[in-house]
Amino acid sequence: MTMTTDDMASFCKRKGFVYQNSEIYGGMSGFFDYGPLGAEVKNSIKQSWWRFFIHQREDCIGIDGSIISHPTVWKASGHVDCFEDIMLVCSKCKEKIRGDTHIEDELKIAADGMKVAEINQLVREHNLKCPKCKGDFEEANDFNLMFKTQVGPSQDSKATAYLRPETAQLIFTNFRLATDNMRMKLPFGIAQVGKAFRNEISPRNFLFRCREFEQMEIEYFIHPKGLNDCPFFEEVKDHEIVYYSAKMQDEKREMEKATVGKLVTDGVIKTTWHGYWLAMAHKWYVSLGAKSENFRIRQHLDTEKSHYALDTWDLEYNFPFGWKELIGMANRTDFDLSQHIKFSKKDLSLFDEETKEKIVPHVVAEPSFGVDRSFLIFMFDAYVDDKERGNIVLKLHPKLAPIKASVFPLVNKEGLPELAKKIYKELRMDFNVTYDQSGSIGRRYARSDEIGTPLCITVDFDSKEDGTVTVRDRDTTIQERVKIDDLKNIIDAKLRT
Ligand code: GLY
Repeated sequence: MTMTTDDMASFCKRKGFVYQNSEIYGGMSGFFDYGPLGAEVKNSIKQSWWRFFIHQREDCIGIDGSIISHPTVWKASGHVDCFEDIMLVCSKCKEKIRGDTHIEDELKIAADGMKVAEINQLVREHNLKCPKCKGDFEEANDFNLMFKTQVGPSQDSKATAYLRPETAQLIFTNFRLATDNMRMKLPFGIAQVGKAFRNEISPRNFLFRCREFEQMEIEYFIHPKGLNDCPFFEEVKDHEIVYYSAKMQDEKREMEKATVGKLVTDGVIKTTWHGYWLAMAHKWYVSLGAKSENFRIRQHLDTEKSHYALDTWDLEYNFPFGWKELIGMANRTDFDLSQHIKFSKKDLSLFDEETKEKIVPHVVAEPSFGVDRSFLIFMFDAYVDDKERGNIVLKLHPKLAPIKASVFPLVNKEGLPELAKKIYKELRMDFNVTYDQSGSIGRRYARSDEIGTPLCITVDFDSKEDGTVTVRDRDTTIQERVKIDDLKNIIDAKLRT
């Protein structure tokens, strides 16, 4: 039987990965807390992402912007006027739900991006009712998703500010400073990892749609005339990916598989840059153990594109509740920089040495990853109910595993705990390892498997004589006898797989 999202939520709670926020007070919908093991995995995801997309590239730099900005930032970005979902309110029980997802659930048609009038019409035509009490809906309304707050002691409207609904805008507002400081030359990317907040009408599916979440975003800037000048395209042109273009969706065709090179040549993906970043995002997930076959790229229909987007492709994952966005990748053109130039009256352009002209760079692709969604899919792809072993094996990539190795004494006597603790204390200087002496060895192996610990190190009677221990591999269960002095190298090698 396939695992549901509720099953994953229970597993995450039981094992210390993720908890419902404020559970002791009945919970707070759309907010989650990461427990001791989940915090480790989440930090590792963010560190791996930063290494892959910033440290290991010459063309990307990172910033860390603040959550609250001058409110004009959000006026300029269009979020004050356009960042809305449509809300349906039940006239009887006053339940509030998101209009497009209710239409999708009830009528099985794509409704993302539908306008208020279309939603009202469909509700009337199909006599849709409140899912809670079967009451009638009031007329639908637009609902702005930004959380408001007051800055400073004043309560007047001038003190109103917003919690950022995307990290991206901080990249645009700091564009000139960061670019000048680091002497960046086009093309280049500016990245950021951090919290974002959206007052979702109907948060759901565990970590998939939360009100507080974390993003890992890159704004990739190019010369406006260089839409197809991606110098890295050769690296990804043979990369195969399942795709579902807007045309295929309109024509109700099935998704297909092709190389990124073919998709660009055939004009399905419009620029080499967009193709490159879609392939890189897919490769990053697979390099950390996600299953390639669970991904596809899907182009947004015209009706669902954000206010700033010329063309958007999502990298989607086949969740238990269907194919859904894991990362969104919009071509934002020069929309944001031009808006900030207009509103701030500051020069955010760059000087083109060749043409001796000022240019406003274009964001050809904005790989915008959800950290919490990434956490969820790594967990789904790692989770194996191993009937032969009789326990769950969480086959997380060693880089993401919360604990890298667990050290056990075979028995709790004759000096074995002392030697095992000595080994544990040395290893923990370099890695997150644990010491466990409770229960049978079989039980300790099972406990380690369930939280994804890649290696178990057992100290036995021979260890005292010859300075060796056994190392058991989580995935194969094969045990090898190795020297205690080699353990650091063995763990290190495992983390590099
Ligand atoms: N920056 C794009 C998004 O938050 O969806």
